[in-house]
Amino acid sequence: MFITLEGPEGSGKTTAVEAAVKRLQELGYEIVRTREPGGTPISEQIRNVILDKANTAMDSRTEALLYAASRRQHLVEKVWPALKEGKIVICDRYVDSSLAYQGGARGLGIDEVLNVNLFATENTWPDLTLLFDIKPEIGLARISANADREVNRLDLEKLEFHNKVRESFLALAKRFPDRFVIIDASQDRESVAKDTMEAILSRLCK
Ligand code: TMP
Repeated sequence: MFITLEGPEGSGKTTAVEAAVKRLQELGYEIVRTREPGGTPISEQIRNVILDKANTAMDSRTEALLYAASRRQHLVEKVWPALKEGKIVICDRYVDSSLAYQGGARGLGIDEVLNVNLFATENTWPDLTLLFDIKPEIGLARISANADREVNRLDLEKLEFHNKVRESFLALAKRFPDRFVIIDASQDRESVAKDTMEAILSRLCK
């Protein structure tokens, strides 16, 4: 099973899934936790180029292609082998982030960015996508309150950009209702973790 976690900045998706991972491991499932961009040495190198605050000259299409390149390498080296071995892969961000950030917020077009990603992923889609929905004002305030979280090049975009990201994610959830579950990430931590666990367990039991 391939599960992806999506949402605007500061949605708390990484923390929210911790309890679910522990529970699934107790139940005997083998879990691979990973993230995009990154997750393998080559993909982490691409991540550094994409998110470097010094790279202010980066063109939007270059950005979309680098995310897709990082994704491809990560699929080949990590995701596909783990799925083949019957493991559950839980990945922070995937194609939907490219559709929302580059397609929607950067204005490249959802379907244009989708095409690049169909080439990169050979049509590999998650079984479940958890969308941690939160107003950007709240998410960005969380980031700035968290001293451990490094601020990256995309965090520095204006509020209008982050609003477009959120709207695009919500539109994607409507477009792909079979795999999307929306989680209200503005709730307290325990409630978000509980909703996350329920969404994963109910999909596993399907
Ligand atoms: P992270 O903060 O969740 O590690 O994600 C890194 C940043 O990259 C975040 O601002 C979202 C952005 N991003 C895209 O713009 N497109 C993508 O395809 C992915 C995977 C992430």
